[in-house]
Amino acid sequence: GLPPRVRIHEVGPRDGLQNEQAIVPVEVKAEFVHRLADAGLRTVEATSFVHPKWVPQLADAEELYPKLSDLGDGVRLPVLVPNTRGLERALALGAREIAVFASATESFAKANLNRTVDEALAMFEPVVRGAREAGASVRGYLSMCFGDPWEGPVPVEQVVRVCRSLVDMGCDELSLGDTIGVATPGHVGALLAALDAEGIGAERIAVHFHDTYGQALANTLAALQHGVQTVDASAGGLGGCPYAKSATGNLATEDLVWMLHGLGIETGVDLGRLTATSVWMAERLGRPSPSRTVRALSHK
Ligand code: HMG
Ligand code: MG
Repeated sequence: GLPPRVRIHEVGPRDGLQNEQAIVPVEVKAEFVHRLADAGLRTVEATSFVHPKWVPQLADAEELYPKLSDLGDGVRLPVLVPNTRGLERALALGAREIAVFASATESFAKANLNRTVDEALAMFEPVVRGAREAGASVRGYLSMCFGDPWEGPVPVEQVVRVCRSLVDMGCDELSLGDTIGVATPGHVGALLAALDAEGIGAERIAVHFHDTYGQALANTLAALQHGVQTVDASAGGLGGCPYAKSATGNLATEDLVWMLHGLGIETGVDLGRLTATSVWMAERLGRPSPSRTVRALSHK
C-alpha cells in the first residue's frame, strides 16, 4: 500500500540554485526559503558549507543562514557539509541538521569531492561523529545510485556497500540520488529490495530523483510502493549538479505534490502558493520553470 503522508525534503535553494551561473542575491535566496516555508514545506535544504571555489553560488552561506533564523523550530533547515571545516562553519551558525554527500562511483567521488569513494567516507566519519556529538541529525546522500555519466549503469551491490558504511557511521537517514536521472522503476525497486535484505529498511530512506529522462515521478511511485515516505524535490524543477554533466533539474516539487494529492497522500503543501513561488523565482532567473505542473497552473 501507499503511505498516508509523505515528507517532502525541498532542495530548491541548494540543489536547485547551486548550478545557476549568475549569482542570485542573498536577499532573493532568503525570500525563496521563506516563501517555500509559507507554502507549507517543513524541510527546506538551505545551502552548503562547501569550498566557495567549488560552488560559487553558495559562497554566501554565512550571510544567508542567519536570515532564516525567524523560521523557528517548525521548519527544518538542513545544510550540506563535506568535511570538518564545513561542519565547524555550519555549527557556528547554529545548524541543527547536516548532510554529508557520498558517491557510489569512483568517477563522481573524484569530480565532486576530489577523493576516492573510501577517502570521501573517511572524510565524512569525523563529520558525522562531530555532528551527532553536537546534537545535530545527519543525512547521508549517496550520488550515482543508478547510473554514472562516465561509468554507465551502477551495480546494486556497489550502492549497498556505501549505504552500509553511511549507516554504520551514524547517518540517521539515507538519500538515494539518481544524479543524472537515468533510473527506471524496476531498478528503483531492485535497489530498495537489496537494501532491505541488508537490514536497511525504507523507514530511513529518502529518494532523490532528477528528471533528465522524465522518469522521476514513476520512480517516486515505485519507491512509495516499497515503503519510502520521504521524497526530495526542487520547487519549479530547478537544478542540476555542476559536477555531473547532462544532469537536469530535480523532480519538481509541484509535479510531486500534484501526484501525491491525487493519490490522497497528505503533504501539508499549498500547491497554489508553491506554484506562485516558482513563477516568482523563474522571473528572478529570467527563464520559465521546466515543471509541467507549474506551467499548467500558471497558464493564463
Ligand atoms: P579539496 O580541494 O580537496 O580541498 O576539496 P582540501 O581539503 O584539500 O582543502 C583545500 C582548501 O580548501 C583549504 O584551504 C581548506 O581550508 C579549504 P587552504 O588551507 O588551502 O587555504 N576548504 C574549505 N573552505 C571552506 N569550506 C569548506 C572547506 N573545505 C576545505 N567546507 C572539498 C575538497 C570537499 C572541500 C571540495 O571538493 C568541495 O567543496 N566539494 C563540494 C562539491 C559540491 O558541493 N557539489 C554539489 C553537492 S553534491 C550534489 O549535488 C548531489 C546531490 O544533490 C545528490 C544527487 O543528486 O546525487 C546531493
Ligand atoms: Mg541532486
